[in-house]
Amino acid sequence: MTVTTKYWPAEQTRSGIIEAAAVLAAGGIIAFPTETVYGLGGDARSTEAVERIFAAKGRPSDNPLIVHIARSEDVEKLAERINDLERELMSAFWPGPLTLVLPVLPGAVSNLVTAGLDTVAVRVPAHEVARELIEQSGCPLAAPSANRSGRPSPTQARHVMEDLNGRIDGVVDGGETGVGLESTVVRVVDGKVHILRPGGITREKLQDAVGSIADVVSPESTAHSAEVASEAEQTHAPRSPGVKYAHYAPKGEMLLITGEWDKLVPIVQAKAAAAGGRGCKVAILSSTEHVARYQADAVFDCGPREEPEKAAHSLYALLRECDELGVNYIVAEGYPEEGIGAALMNRLRKAAGGCEITAG
Ligand code: TXA
Ligand code: MG
Repeated sequence: MTVTTKYWPAEQTRSGIIEAAAVLAAGGIIAFPTETVYGLGGDARSTEAVERIFAAKGRPSDNPLIVHIARSEDVEKLAERINDLERELMSAFWPGPLTLVLPVLPGAVSNLVTAGLDTVAVRVPAHEVARELIEQSGCPLAAPSANRSGRPSPTQARHVMEDLNGRIDGVVDGGETGVGLESTVVRVVDGKVHILRPGGITREKLQDAVGSIADVVSPESTAHSAEVASEAEQTHAPRSPGVKYAHYAPKGEMLLITGEWDKLVPIVQAKAAAAGGRGCKVAILSSTEHVARYQADAVFDCGPREEPEKAAHSLYALLRECDELGVNYIVAEGYPEEGIGAALMNRLRKAAGGCEITAG
């Protein structure tokens, strides 16, 4: 079904929020900015709205959605039991890019939101537009990232339009998102915080706030295929159903080069040249330090090695740009896996579908 997608430009954010909130209250679906990426929201209590979200994205129905609320106290309407550690996490990181998986209060949201699980993922976004939209609509908003399934998450309203124009009721443009990668998804099991998906709140910050983080072999960081995910499942570690799907894939092939910093350049350049020799249109995702040393059809500066937050902020937009340019081979430099660098490398690995070479 094709619908007319209303677009509210950044100059009309105010009136956009008011109109979009009314559409949400009436069961419609609206894309909006958060501090991580754009989300595609609908009333989490309405099965019809949530069905439309899955259909617009082309998302498999066994991958549950995050419910977004405007105020921390509203979590009581969604979750059945909340323990002290969970409350500590909420007071430390909400509003902000942390999603907590909690036991769901039966009947609080449509079964489609939780994909039939007995848990619900909840977060309070820090973006003013998101919070006002939730507040004014009066709905808890089920909102996955506002991309077609398998495409990079949108960090600008125009990315949403590229993917979903004609499939959703509207897009509120609130400018570029900040973090650029999705929220960290955690679950507390047996008194320990398990990271199901690395993201905007780093492992180090979680550790500072609550002490120890359980050493789970995170299926998210290794699962590139359903088989790997189901192996991880057998270990009984809590997991995020989303991890088994290929995500964030650019249209072209991608190769990630990690390892010793001063040995990266010759390998990256050789792989790019070889792909060029095979007739590929080649792009390199480079650190600022190395950018002048590369030659390819496109060389993108992702930011300094010691500032992975810059690369995190721009990664998805650059992957989309590669698609637009018709790039069919991307070589990307790895970043150190500290701080937001861990989430960045997780997304780079997913985009590369496991193709990685370690220099050194
Ligand atoms: O930053 C974000 O988290 C963005 C913005 C829009 O808030 N949203 C987002 O949603 O990334 P989505 O649907 O693309 O990713 C949600 C992740 C998936 O990996 C899903 O499997 C996991 O959260 N998830 C949702 N409910 C869960 C649950 N009950 N148990 C375990 N994992 C869950
Ligand atoms: Mg997503």
